[in-house]
Amino acid sequence: MRQTRLGTLVLVVGLALGPLTFAPGAAQVKTPPDFVFEQGKDAPGPVTFSHEKHKEKVDKCTVCHTKVFKFKRGTSGTPTMAAMKEGKFCGACHDGKTEVGGKVVFTTDDKANCERCHRK
Ligand code: HEC
Ligand code: HEC
Ligand code: HEC
Repeated sequence: MRQTRLGTLVLVVGLALGPLTFAPGAAQVKTPPDFVFEQGKDAPGPVTFSHEKHKEKVDKCTVCHTKVFKFKRGTSGTPTMAAMKEGKFCGACHDGKTEVGGKVVFTTDDKANCERCHRK
């Protein structure tokens, strides 16, 4: 009985400390699967975020974590387009100015790009 409880405690503490292993230099962290954001009012379609696709372009997890996004879904605040135009959330890079790997990242502030994130 005691051992089982100890096992549970170790597991829970391990899960709680998990994010700390993302500290720069720490290796071996699984990249989460694609996920869909909870849709805000009047959003022109659901937004899927792909870690896999970003990984090809953004080499370090620390570029987004944890300055821009926290390590748990739904805990970084509500992403609004207004906030993105101020350089928050996806707008930290998707502003039509920021260069990643020598290429300017497409902006959220152009009707031609809405569908690149909001898929119908
Ligand atoms: C780089 C990706 C990206 C682009 C480009 C983008 N959006 Fe969004 N947008 C998001 C994310 C992420 C959310 C939050 C999740 C949701 O509401 O579906 C969001 C939310 C929204 C919302 C609801 C919240 C709010 O701000 O009112 C609206 C409306 C919206 N987008 C409209 C647009 C329009 C119109 C365009 C094109 C001019 C656009 N978006 C381009 C990623 C993007
Ligand atoms: C381009 C930005 C970006 C990069 C780079 C990035 N992430 Fe994320 N990550 C996100 C976003 C956005 C979320 C969701 C945050 C939220 O909803 O509050 C997230 C969430 C997570 C979560 C929580 C998943 C869940 O289901 O709660 C983990 C774990 C994670 N990322 C790991 C990583 C690892 C490991 C890397 C590097 C290989 C990485 N991320 C690189 C944007 C990024
Ligand atoms: C650290 C910078 C950074 C942040 C933050 C970021 N992205 Fe990106 N994203 C990139 C780069 C770089 C590319 C590749 C640029 C290109 O193809 O023009 C990209 C590409 C994309 C693409 C196109 C992927 C494809 O090839 O189909 C989508 C969709 C996208 N991002 C959505 C998002 C959403 C939604 C968020 C916020 C939750 C976000 N990004 C946050 C850097 C970022």
